[in-house]
Amino acid sequence: MSSAIKETTSAKGSGSDIDPTTASLTVGGKSHSLPVIIGTEGERALDTRKLRNESGYIAYDDGYGNTGSCLSNISYIDGEKGILRHRGYPIEQLARHSSFIEVAYLVIYGELPSAEQLAQFRERVRGNAHLHEDFRHHFQGFPPNSHPMAVLSSMMNALGCYYPNMSTNNRETDLAHFDDTTTLLLSKVRTIAAATYRMRMGRPFNYSRGSFRYVDNFLHMMFSEPYEEYEPVPEVADALDLFLLLHADHEQNCSTSTVRMVASGGANLFASVAAGVCALWGPLHGGANSAVIQMLEEIHARGDDGSRFIEDAKTGKARLMGFGHRVYKNFDPRAKIFGAAAERVLKALGREDPLLDIARRLEQAALADDYFIERKLYPNVDFYSGIVLKAIGIPVDMFTVMFAIGRMPGWIANWKETAETTKRIHRPRQIYTGPEKRDFVPIEKR
Ligand code: ACO
Repeated sequence: MSSAIKETTSAKGSGSDIDPTTASLTVGGKSHSLPVIIGTEGERALDTRKLRNESGYIAYDDGYGNTGSCLSNISYIDGEKGILRHRGYPIEQLARHSSFIEVAYLVIYGELPSAEQLAQFRERVRGNAHLHEDFRHHFQGFPPNSHPMAVLSSMMNALGCYYPNMSTNNRETDLAHFDDTTTLLLSKVRTIAAATYRMRMGRPFNYSRGSFRYVDNFLHMMFSEPYEEYEPVPEVADALDLFLLLHADHEQNCSTSTVRMVASGGANLFASVAAGVCALWGPLHGGANSAVIQMLEEIHARGDDGSRFIEDAKTGKARLMGFGHRVYKNFDPRAKIFGAAAERVLKALGREDPLLDIARRLEQAALADDYFIERKLYPNVDFYSGIVLKAIGIPVDMFTVMFAIGRMPGWIANWKETAETTKRIHRPRQIYTGPEKRDFVPIEKR
């Protein structure tokens, strides 16, 4: 059986530099026309939506590395060039000039806010930091050493129960409350994260401070004691704000596509982001930032300068966590920005961390090694973020919770886009490779 994809000539003319409007797929001697879709940045796709009905064939793409699961206006990545833009704005400019809350507004609503819009948005986030007193009792239902990601995903879903008018699973109703749900989630995810930490430490919960900005309030809820108020170091608060900003969205990654998947079935925003938290937890996704620290600590503990570990990574005995990315194949722009922030925070805190030295050595060794060069493996944002979070005093198993706080705007924006534009439930197909039909065998004959 022969199969081939070829581009047809464009309606505008022919020639390799002109985009075709259709492609044809020839399979089993029959030709099928596939419309070509071109994104605003020139990304090209073949529209295979009608392929199965017309040909009986589906596209097989294990891991979705070559599948566009949606049309989206939110973020753009060019992995080859190391480009990340939110709503058109380069991440470098946002990191330099903006704040997490402003970028959250941009990602969610599509435009940079005016001064008035930003002030109102901040006010709504600020006003939503508290938890219902009954809600606080949920924390007692968890063993004190529960993993904070398990607590967070449960709490995100439980939160919806306190706002039944916002979590109806009726799209029109849930969308009508979208502004309120958004600020509520952005604010309370931080309160829940801090409360989880306080529960773990056996310390009383801290009430939020209305006058504090987003990250300062979080640090206060985490670290203030009844007998001693936490005093944030400006460089620490700035680095935390930058960390959250850099994580605000990242197109169709594992957790965001999970949120869209759940949203496509009509589930409310609380349930959809709870699913996003679960998807983020894994070490190949958001769990990588804690895995980086565990890896650096292991290397340090065995007196390795990193070179033995690099050899292990090359032979498959170990994986260099914080390296590699499904999309970025030259550099992760977020890693560049955050590598510099790591230096600034450690300097401001007057700390030297041997793990940072090991990280630098690993980076240099890997960037000069053919194994990593050939496979286009570069540091990703998680490579340095763990060092910063550790310096701030965030426990390692809460690193992924910090990622979840940062990713909340992206999940919210993608939920909204799905709820507003998707009529069909997301439902991939599969190629069945199990046994053919066979008859049931009674238990005494097996
Ligand atoms: N260390 C050593 N080898 C690696 C690494 C790594 N970190 N990443 C990939 N490779 C190798 C693979 O073994 C494979 O080699 P092979 O061709 O000889 O079999 C090749 O590079 C391609 O790797 P894949 O796993 O196919 O790449 P994929 O795009 O599927 O995976 C991923 C990307 C999951 C990020 C991977 O690079 C990885 O596991 N990195 C470490 C975990 C990590 O840092 N995750 C964070 C991602 S960023 C984020 O979520 C914010």
